[in-house]
Order: sequence, then C-alpha cells, then structure tokens
Amino acid sequence: MSTLLDISHIDMVFDTPKGPFTALKGVDLKIAQGEFVSLIGHSGCGKSTVLNIVAGLLQASSGGVILNGREVSEPGPDRAVVFQNHSLLPWLTAYQNVELAVKQVFGRSKTKAEIKNWIEHNLQLVHMDHAMHKRPDEISGGMKQRVGIARALAMQPEILLMDEPFGALDALTRAHMQDSLMEIQQELNNTVIMITHDVDEAVLLSDRIVMMSNGPAATVGEILEINLERPRDRLELAQDTEYTRLRSEVLKFLYEKQRKVEPIAKSRAKKKLEESRQHEAA
Ligand SMILES: Nc1ncnc2c1ncn2[C@@H]1O[C@H](COP(=O)(O)OP(=O)(O)O)[C@@H](O)[C@H]1O
Ligand SMILES: [Mg+2]
Repeated sequence: MSTLLDISHIDMVFDTPKGPFTALKGVDLKIAQGEFVSLIGHSGCGKSTVLNIVAGLLQASSGGVILNGREVSEPGPDRAVVFQNHSLLPWLTAYQNVELAVKQVFGRSKTKAEIKNWIEHNLQLVHMDHAMHKRPDEISGGMKQRVGIARALAMQPEILLMDEPFGALDALTRAHMQDSLMEIQQELNNTVIMITHDVDEAVLLSDRIVMMSNGPAATVGEILEINLERPRDRLELAQDTEYTRLRSEVLKFLYEKQRKVEPIAKSRAKKKLEESRQHEAA
C-alpha cells in the first residue's frame, strides 16, 4: 500500500510563561490510504497536538506533514476534523450544518439538486435522515456527533481526523457509534486517524494502534498491528483469544511501560482516604 500521509520528524515546542515546553519530539508516522489508525496514550501526552498539526491548525516547530505529496501548512477540506464536542452551529438544522460544509467544497462543481442529494445521502449514512431538519438543541449528544461525522464525510476528505469523537457519550451510544463508523469505513474505505482513551474502542476499530509515550518530549512508543478479520463483531471478539492478547498489549503499554506517576496531591488524598478507612474499621 502506498503512503497517503507522512508525518516526519515532528518536534513541537510551545512557548509558555515558564519558558519553552517541548511537547513532542521526533514523531514519525506513515499512514496508508484506507487505513484506520488510533492514537492512544495518557492524557496530556500530545495526541491532540499531533492531530492539530496534521489538521494544519498548529505549525510544528520542526519536521513536517505531507498529505498525498503536498506539504500541509494550513487547514483544508482535504482533512476533515471531528471533535469530542460536536461543534455544530446551534442556529442551523442538521441539514444546514452539513450544507454549509458541502457548499464550501462542492459549491462550484455540483448542481443544486446534486448538493441536496449529497447532503441527504451523508445524513443517511449516519442514520440521521429522520431528524435532518432538527437543530442541535433538539437532538441527543449521540445524534449531534452523527451529524458532525456526516458533515466531515460529506466533504470527502483525503483523511478523517477524529479527536476522541465518542468521549462524551454514554457506553451504549458509544457502542452504536463505533459500529456505525466501522460500517461506513468498510463501505467508503476512508483513511482515519482517531484519538481515543478507550482500549476496547482502539482494538475494535483499528488496523494499527499507535501508542504514545508520556511527555514532555512525547513520541511514538510502540505500534500494534490489529489483524483481526473484518467485519468485526464486538460480541464474538469478546471471546477471541487474539483480541484478548491485543487488548492486554495496549494495557501493558499504558499501565506498565508508560505508567503515569500520580501527582503528589492525589496520592496524599488517597493515603488520607486509606487512613480514614482504617480508623472506621478499628
Ligand atoms: N498551546 C499550548 N501552549 C502550551 N502548552 C500546550 C499547548 N497545547 C498543548 N500544550 C501542552 O502539550 C502537552 C500535550 O497536550 P495535548 O496534545 O493536548 O495532549 P493530549 O491530547 O494527549 O491529552 C500537554 O502537556 C499540554 O499542556
Ligand atoms: Mg487531547
């Protein structure tokens, strides 16, 4: 498979009141067309920073990103982003939110009728056609994320960038969304980078899981290939030995190799709690 996205030798240094802070150091990653890659790592390690550099929202201090042979230097419709918080315009309906993006990308190349069909088609893909004339405050959190995904897909980006897209949803809604995303990706063969905290989500959805080391100077720690057959079924996988092995590889990376040292305040609080329990027991 040929490389679609090439992230090479990225360093990111932020200027802070206390002086320069090196968030990322030497991040290298190549992603092939049609690949689904998850980024996982402890909070604050630099996942969003990597994604924002690929999106063109942040400029790396050194190194660069090449998408389909062109260097990324600013945001563009070839890289659609889905954030944890839907970011829909509250005064527009689901349809109109998608329309805004579609007109921006296809306003000149599609006719009015084609635009309408295309918006409806993408809302159908995420099972939102029944509520497309509702505004964000009239639909649930899961439905808003669906509209956000429809809007991103409708732009036909070269790559879909998702920053904890299901992080704010309850477990059942989250499972539905994961299944929909797998179905859509199976059909459209999108290239996706998704940030997640959720080990099961990462194993279920990904072709590869990129595990990041803790910061400062965070980088790609290990990469795990997920060669589970598709389509994937969460119930069957729950009993699959290879699934269990992959899952524990990620857990080992996060909780043994990259174990986060607890902040002092928190461990003090924990000690106090234990002390008070001992008192109660005595
Ligand atoms: N604009 C910024 N200025 C200074 N520090 C930042 C800025 N953005 C992120 N950081 C720091 O860089 C590190 C990585 O942040 P981030 O990419 O948001 O982590 P993650 O998404 O993995 O939780 C953190 O220590 C964060 O505080
Ligand atoms: Mg983040």
